[in-house]
Amino acid sequence: MSLSTKHLLGIKDLTKEDIQTILQTAEQFKEVLQRPIKKVPSLRDVTIVNLFYENSTRTRISFELAEKRLSADTINFSASGSSVSKGETLLDTVNNILSMKVDMVVMRHSASGAPHFLAKHIPAAIINAGDGVNEHPTQALLDALSIKERLGQLEGVKVAIIGDIMHSRVAQSNIYLLKKMGAEVIVCGPPTLIPKYIREAFGVKVEYNLRKALEWCDVANVLRIQLERQNQVLFSSLREYSLAYGINRRLLDSLNKTITIMHPGPINRGVELDSDVADSKQSLVLQQVENGVAVRMAVLYLLSNRQN
Ligand code: CP
Repeated sequence: MSLSTKHLLGIKDLTKEDIQTILQTAEQFKEVLQRPIKKVPSLRDVTIVNLFYENSTRTRISFELAEKRLSADTINFSASGSSVSKGETLLDTVNNILSMKVDMVVMRHSASGAPHFLAKHIPAAIINAGDGVNEHPTQALLDALSIKERLGQLEGVKVAIIGDIMHSRVAQSNIYLLKKMGAEVIVCGPPTLIPKYIREAFGVKVEYNLRKALEWCDVANVLRIQLERQNQVLFSSLREYSLAYGINRRLLDSLNKTITIMHPGPINRGVELDSDVADSKQSLVLQQVENGVAVRMAVLYLLSNRQN
């Protein structure tokens, strides 16, 4: 089993077969993670650097845990506290780290395209852990695994992606993946947070009315409002956003069916999701995080050239 690509820069570059291979491999690693000894020697003597130029809780811990479960050696780099503050470039930083015999690079960066730039200049395999507003491929893969576990398949499943579509790399990666796997996708949110080109560029439908989106979908993947990426006022207040697009128990109970709720985290409780929704049986939030470790093990393993 191998992938058609040397790096994981985005879902855009993967084939349907690549996605199936990653999800099948992740299912096998999930079985490993249920054992009393949750560790396999697959990446022994492989050294991986986790380069985080932007904050993270879930993705960072999940990659580190995935690497440890595969017996890789890991190094963690944060831009804060490093020589980046002295003006060192991304390429110099990475080349210095690679000269210490590092085999693979996991990278999160606030600049869209940063891992694609790096891939053109260094020999190591690169895994994108989120680049600006572009892609977050392992998030889409763990979301797909979570939907598959809950609903049995991806093909034909109706997914509504709700909220700040404009600034969301999670939305972009999910749309690419779901469309490749035969799911139906609509995006829903305030007009100011949905790019005008999205229908033509991505082949998705747009719905501005939250109730209509929820009545249509099997799964609502609810996104965080990314205030840190908004350099202009795009809605009047968080309270007004929540009144129009926040999902609460009353709204869910008024639908004529039970839908699945997802959120990539971190959640703004009381804004996108009320706690009695986020913590309910309808919510996959913690299963998504759990699946992240197996999915990242699969990606690391498949890109490591250690399969044979
Ligand atoms: N879902 C996600 O990317 O979360 P973190 O920013 O905490 O990694």
